[in-house]
Amino acid sequence: MCLRTRIDENRCMHTYLTNIDLLPLNTLALPGRAARYLRVTEAKQLADSALCERHRFVLGSGSNLVLSGDFDGLILHMAITGRELAGEDADAWYVRAGAGENWNEFVDWTLTQGWPGLENLSLIPGTVGAAPIQNIGAYGLEIAERFHSLAACDMNTGRIVRLDRSACRFGYRDSVFKQEGWYLDGRYAITEVTFRLPKVWQSLTRYADVAAELEAQGILTANARQIAAAVIAVRQRKLPDPQQIPNVGSFFHNPVVDSATADRLQSAHPGLPLYPQNESRVKLAAGWLIEQAGWKGKNLGPVGMYEKQALVLVNRGGATGADVATLMQAIQRDVRMKFGVELTPEPIFL
Ligand code: EPU
Repeated sequence: MCLRTRIDENRCMHTYLTNIDLLPLNTLALPGRAARYLRVTEAKQLADSALCERHRFVLGSGSNLVLSGDFDGLILHMAITGRELAGEDADAWYVRAGAGENWNEFVDWTLTQGWPGLENLSLIPGTVGAAPIQNIGAYGLEIAERFHSLAACDMNTGRIVRLDRSACRFGYRDSVFKQEGWYLDGRYAITEVTFRLPKVWQSLTRYADVAAELEAQGILTANARQIAAAVIAVRQRKLPDPQQIPNVGSFFHNPVVDSATADRLQSAHPGLPLYPQNESRVKLAAGWLIEQAGWKGKNLGPVGMYEKQALVLVNRGGATGADVATLMQAIQRDVRMKFGVELTPEPIFL
């Protein structure tokens, strides 16, 4: 046994907590225990643990996670904090935050500092470090549009690497971390993210729900704070608070189909909302498909689809990962049978 391994094994034995309850650490409140657990407050802890534990998972606030049961490995619970103005040029502010920062608090802080640009993404649950993994998006904005770069620990070598926007290969609720399986197999642990917030600010208020909220408040020309408040109001009205009703937000992606399929579906189902992405691809509203398939507000065992937003799967109390999988498959089957459309889940399954 080489010295390095021996040192690392000693470190593992002395610093990891064992047999940790994961139920409070995932917002669907699913049961499961972690064999080993480390709260990560500094990047160098990752480098230390990288070489001594191969089976690992980086956990943020567990708001996009379906826990299947016990995890026989190491949970690296990301808690690196810190936020600062990393730089500034004529065109933009570059704002950096630790991966463990709460996303909504970070957005709120940028607005307080006078650096708008993230307001449409207010109140999205989760951490800064998780935001790029699924390219979080809402109300007409995706994080890719405000992303500059990130730092991550390469868990195979223990070295810190930097990824810019193109290296992240962002897509709709997608990035290289999902495409290459780097997130699920714990290959990279994101430690900090830098955002580019343009100094010429443009409001994004075309999304119908946000526009209607601003109009109802009598706001004609909204500033960033007012947009944030409108987004928060819409989210609070439509989406369940995970603290009260455990959930992971949208449970499925909105499916993207070819134009011919979209036209055929809309002829058969005139109410179907369509969002053209380009000349040949059209996004469909999964919430609408699920509602039409009869699942809105309906339960299967201890899980169900939320009564105000059919795309959100909720734990009514005492559910397991198996209950979630059973409901997911039932919905996929019914939507497939009724519309011939395949729904894919948005959260990560562990
Ligand atoms: N709809 C229904 N029934 C429902 C839910 C929705 O008919 O039960 C219809 C709506 O009437 C609307 C359309 O579906 O015509 C779209 O609904 P909504 O505006 O609520 O947005 P969404 O497509 O269901 C997406 C994101 C959300 C994001 C909102 C706002 C995905 C998978 N979801 O939801 O993101 O907050 O747009 O931008 O892209 C998340 O990813 O966790 C999430 C909450």
